[in-house]
Amino acid sequence: MASIRLAQVNKIYRSRGHAVHAVKDLDLTVEDGEFVAILGPSGCGKTSTLRMIVGLEEITSGDIFFDDRRVNDLDPQARNVAMAFETYALYPSFTIEENLSFPLEVRGVPAAERRKKVHDLAALLRIEDILGQKPAALSGGQQQRVSLGRALIRDPAVFILDEVMSHIDAHLKLQMLFELKRIHQELGKTMIYVTHDQVEALALADRVAVMSHAALQQVGTRNELYHEPVNVFVADFIGEPPTNFFPAELDAGDDQPFLRAKNAALTFAVPVERARRLAAGGRRDYVVGLRPQNLHLDGAESGAAPAGGMLTAEVAINEYVGERTILTLVADGHRFRAQAHAETSFGRGERVCLRYASSDVMVFDAETEALIA
Ligand SMILES: Nc1ncnc2c1ncn2[C@@H]1O[C@H](COP(=O)(O)OP(=O)(O)OP(=O)(O)O)[C@@H](O)[C@H]1O
Ligand SMILES: [Mg+2]
Repeated sequence: MASIRLAQVNKIYRSRGHAVHAVKDLDLTVEDGEFVAILGPSGCGKTSTLRMIVGLEEITSGDIFFDDRRVNDLDPQARNVAMAFETYALYPSFTIEENLSFPLEVRGVPAAERRKKVHDLAALLRIEDILGQKPAALSGGQQQRVSLGRALIRDPAVFILDEVMSHIDAHLKLQMLFELKRIHQELGKTMIYVTHDQVEALALADRVAVMSHAALQQVGTRNELYHEPVNVFVADFIGEPPTNFFPAELDAGDDQPFLRAKNAALTFAVPVERARRLAAGGRRDYVVGLRPQNLHLDGAESGAAPAGGMLTAEVAINEYVGERTILTLVADGHRFRAQAHAETSFGRGERVCLRYASSDVMVFDAETEALIA
């Protein structure tokens, strides 16, 4: 068992006089037995972080600890980590069964036991029918499941999984996410799962670490990231459709301060205490964030909480997406989105009123993009 702690970890790649700062001052702790996902857009430093944890990449500065042991200079083999990467790394001349069996053979597990373990895992990953084949004969999704199996068959202290489901079709992916979560609950092993897909991260992980531009933005549970994003990036990245943003300024108001959109006749009520603090703060420029899920069509049953406000806008697009409808709305040229019931029949050009609760209005500093609590 092992907890993992990264302390001020940096990775700078240097090639031909050119430097890329791939990971910046990263502090992250993954508790023993915890399942943490690292989530962020392509190029934000996820794989670099994993490769340093595993020992495949040198740490430019900072420290990595497994429990209390500093592992910076430890070989990958000595770290007792099982990993699976997006690319498959299977032995091409071995059958799938041999590929899965090999890590057990190396550890001296008897043949009968190996066979049972491989077949149990193959059933779990739904690859029983391809055990006799060679890797070259498999589809990308099948190869990915085999390489995931190669990691899962071992008995390491830590599992590190990097984009292991990127080539698996949506339907099977859902089942595999469920299985992986179950495997984690059964084994109780520390797991770090890297993905750029928020659905995967939020479905699997106890906590999600959101990265952008080489830096950690926020670590939190699904609820924390959704309801209390620390900045504009997290508010935008977490949630589907993304949060609506409105550049805004403070209006002193007659009895209570409120926020007014800069480029549209839209006003935003914020809770009294927060409005007073904003007024006392002396800043001028803000960005208001409102999630499409928190904009309720007037008259809809899920009406806003008592304290709140209303926006009026014109419907530009009505999209039916699965069990819901996404309305794209326009107010004075400013576009934003609202989520409504599937049966919502508003058409292009119709005017609608949307209610929101003031407690759902997020306010960010326009300059630093940080959430103002
Ligand atoms: N070996 C390398 N040499 C030079 N630059 C590299 C190297 N590996 C990665 N980089 C750069 O470091 C940055 C982070 O890369 P990394 O692979 O960690 O991102 P990522 O978050 O895993 O992205 P993706 O989601 O596309 O896999 C990128 O700008 C990348 O181009
Ligand atoms: Mg990567």
